[in-house]
Amino acid sequence: MAKYEDLVYQLKRQIKSGVWRAGDKLPSLRKQSAHSGLSLMTVLHAYQVLESQGYVVSQARSGYRVTPELKETEPHLHAAVSLTEKVDINDFVFEVLQAGRNPYMVNFGFAYPDPSLYPRQQVNRSLMSAARNLPISSTFDNLPPGNEELRTILAKRYATKGVNISPEEIVITAGALEALNLSLQVCTKPGDWVVVESPTFYGALQSLERLGLKALSVRTDTITGIDLDALEKAFQSHDVKACWLMSNHQNPLGFTLTLEKKQSLNDLLNRYNVALIEDDVYGELYQEGTPVMPVKQFDQIGNVMLCSSFSKSLVSGFRIGWVAAGKRALEMQKLQLMSTLATSAPIQLALTDYLSKCNYETHLKQLRKKLHERKGQMECLLTKYLPSGVNITSQLGGYFIWVELPLGIDAVDVFHAAIKQNISIAPGKMFSVTEHYNHCMRLNASFALNDKTVQAIMTLGQIISECMVANESTILATSV
Ligand SMILES: Cc1ncc(COP(=O)(O)O)c(C=O)c1O
Repeated sequence: MAKYEDLVYQLKRQIKSGVWRAGDKLPSLRKQSAHSGLSLMTVLHAYQVLESQGYVVSQARSGYRVTPELKETEPHLHAAVSLTEKVDINDFVFEVLQAGRNPYMVNFGFAYPDPSLYPRQQVNRSLMSAARNLPISSTFDNLPPGNEELRTILAKRYATKGVNISPEEIVITAGALEALNLSLQVCTKPGDWVVVESPTFYGALQSLERLGLKALSVRTDTITGIDLDALEKAFQSHDVKACWLMSNHQNPLGFTLTLEKKQSLNDLLNRYNVALIEDDVYGELYQEGTPVMPVKQFDQIGNVMLCSSFSKSLVSGFRIGWVAAGKRALEMQKLQLMSTLATSAPIQLALTDYLSKCNYETHLKQLRKKLHERKGQMECLLTKYLPSGVNITSQLGGYFIWVELPLGIDAVDVFHAAIKQNISIAPGKMFSVTEHYNHCMRLNASFALNDKTVQAIMTLGQIISECMVANESTILATSV
């Protein structure tokens, strides 16, 4: 990460968390430079970026101030907790995902990283080796909880990060999604209340819909994440059985909770005896050099079900994930046995082969570097080609960029117009059962920028401008 980006990120965090309030004067360039050890030019560049994104304004001879009329980000304008008795999102999500399934599409709406960033040849070699050497006992050896060697490798990887997880509590699943669904099933029954972030990964909402669960959507800030006061209110007012949350590189917003907040979240869950389903599929995609930790690291009582997979970091199509299920590991195995029976044995063996023979760490380092580079390039192009009035949030790690259009613009209209031009986006409506994010969209920044993708960003800019002109009266009405 460039040094100025780090400062931009820190200052945004401070503004969002109220350290600097609307109208406050930021430290002078000289002071900031002395304090941070950055050069004056780097600090100036960071302030200019914040200005271009609407966070600060510069005033002749008096330096930079936090934009006086800076509105709280949208989530703060919303109710702390929104209740939804019947989640109904799957048809819309299905429609959007289907529309994006076209090989000619510029796939900014895609959920997975560019597959060309994966070590395909090495993984394929491991698959062939596993197929050639498949032991006769492979079916039995790989029944729940899953391949023992694979579980041990995973436990060791966590241990090197300082997270204590035993191979016995890990259950291998078909992608993170099976892990998440089993976790939800193990601690709820139809009609129970479950907390989700607002906005959240649409897969969480689909699971609630499928299992007949009720949603408590808790206010979540673009930069600082879930509002813990609001979460506590939800716990006080409802008999909440589980929370489905992401603490690292959240989808769709991209934030990572601070370590202190992760600890407070864990304490709060324990105080109210609520299970945590921690979705950590982007946990390996941190900014190189700044590893992130799951909430699970603070869990002393086996209450956190930490779910992840190789889908975003190594290979998407193999569908291998896992859950470190803590005290619910045995129940989870029983549930898997009577739903999907087991995870494919050859695929488990192929990944075991890859992880024991190849250098996964080297691959991850390269992947993180590429994703960071591409996200930075895409952010620059979006800043250049999207009309003013659009707010772009790109955070450390992961590969999503969150875009807020002016209130009153429906991103589903943008989606339909863009699809006609073979460009997909993920409209905000996919990520919430409330209407709060209808003017937002999530963009995938993992793909290489070439003439086609740059043109697609320009086209997207035109589409948004046209929508803004067509909805001028609504925009004016909502902004007063
Ligand atoms: C936040 C989040 N969780 C879970 C998943 C599903 O992961 P997997 O493909 O491993 O099932 C996705 C995929 O898009 C995701 O974005």
